[in-house]
Amino acid sequence: MPDQGGRIEVTLTRTRNQIVITVEDNGPGIRPDALERIFERFYTDRPDGEAFGQNSGLGLSISRQIAEAHGGTLTAENIAGPEADGAAKGARFTLKLPAAGGKAQ
Ligand SMILES: Nc1ncnc2c1ncn2[C@@H]1O[C@H](COP(=O)(O)OP(=O)(O)O)[C@@H](O)[C@H]1O
Ligand SMILES: [Mg+2]
Repeated sequence: MPDQGGRIEVTLTRTRNQIVITVEDNGPGIRPDALERIFERFYTDRPDGEAFGQNSGLGLSISRQIAEAHGGTLTAENIAGPEADGAAKGARFTLKLPAAGGKAQ
């Protein structure tokens, strides 16, 4: 597949009590009214005609459940672009986990 300019950046930071992992992309971002709903089971903006197995709408729901089962959180936000119209220049997912040996927050 030709390079279409898609980029994903992953960061990991650790403080005494917490590990923070962010995953950022330069895609279209997430509709502001869907920032919470995308974590609902079966919520998907699957392209028309694509099979269920390709986009089940389960990925983020399961990911958040795993994060919370470990005492953490998983959230989504848009990365603000430079344009005055406020269009997003990508999405950022943030996973926060209590660090081993540290106190859960
Ligand atoms: N990186 C992203 N940028 C924009 N929208 C996203 C991104 N990741 C997920 N979404 C939105 O969240 C929805 C749910 O994602 P997910 O739970 O992974 O299910 P699926 O990928 O099967 O649709 C997607 O259909 C899409 O609308
Ligand atoms: Mg997905």
